[in-house]
Amino acid sequence: MKAVEIKKGKDLSIDELTFLAKKTQKIFYGKNNFEKELLKLKKEKSSFFFLFKNSNKILSFGFLKPTRIKYHNKNYNILGIRNIISVKKNKGHGSILMKEIINFLTKKEKTGLGFTGSQVAKFYKKNNFSIKQGLRKRLFPDYGNNKEEIAHWGFYQEGKDKFISKIMKSKSKIRMPSRKW
Ligand SMILES: CC(C)(COP(=O)(O)OP(=O)(O)OC[C@H]1O[C@@H](n2cnc3c(N)ncnc32)[C@H](O)[C@@H]1OP(=O)(O)O)[C@@H](O)C(=O)NCCC(=O)NCCS
Repeated sequence: MKAVEIKKGKDLSIDELTFLAKKTQKIFYGKNNFEKELLKLKKEKSSFFFLFKNSNKILSFGFLKPTRIKYHNKNYNILGIRNIISVKKNKGHGSILMKEIINFLTKKEKTGLGFTGSQVAKFYKKNNFSIKQGLRKRLFPDYGNNKEEIAHWGFYQEGKDKFISKIMKSKSKIRMPSRKW
């Protein structure tokens, strides 16, 4: 049976973590050494992982990382949308995953935000996310100085904190918890 499982990182099995680490390395970086990625994923204990499975076989996956951002002396607890991957592309598996992510964000009334390039932004738009060119630079002003950094588009669903609308209204500093997303 096909279904999307939602699990905290701390509840993922070692087989699931290893599969995710291998696919992420291969698809994003074209590399087979996945140990570093595995260590990174093991730290995502409180992130929400979305696994679209057919029985035990993972067809697509991604996760939401709780991220605290300070802006105008207020803390915003948003969810960073990370590592969205379809094991086999163009079979609708990515869309099924994004539908669950939208439902989850809607239920929790949280802002979900991720970054991508102009092509894949179209995929998120088709799946009911808002997209905005240049959004990454608003959060990371130093981003994009290297040629290979192409993921300037933001895709998001805004929650009740109205975080994205607020940061787009001014140029004041946004305090990110890390130098990179
Ligand atoms: C991006 C990705 C997750 C999309 O998943 P998918 O399962 O292939 O997508 P779907 O089959 O659900 O496609 C849904 C729609 O989006 C479109 N779409 C999918 N990928 C697209 C892309 N890269 N560029 C433009 N449109 C795209 C499809 O054409 C389809 O449109 P249609 O409904 O009009 O036919 C998948 O291509 C992937 O894993 N890419 C590599 C990793 C990656 O780049 N992840 C995103 C990081 S931000």
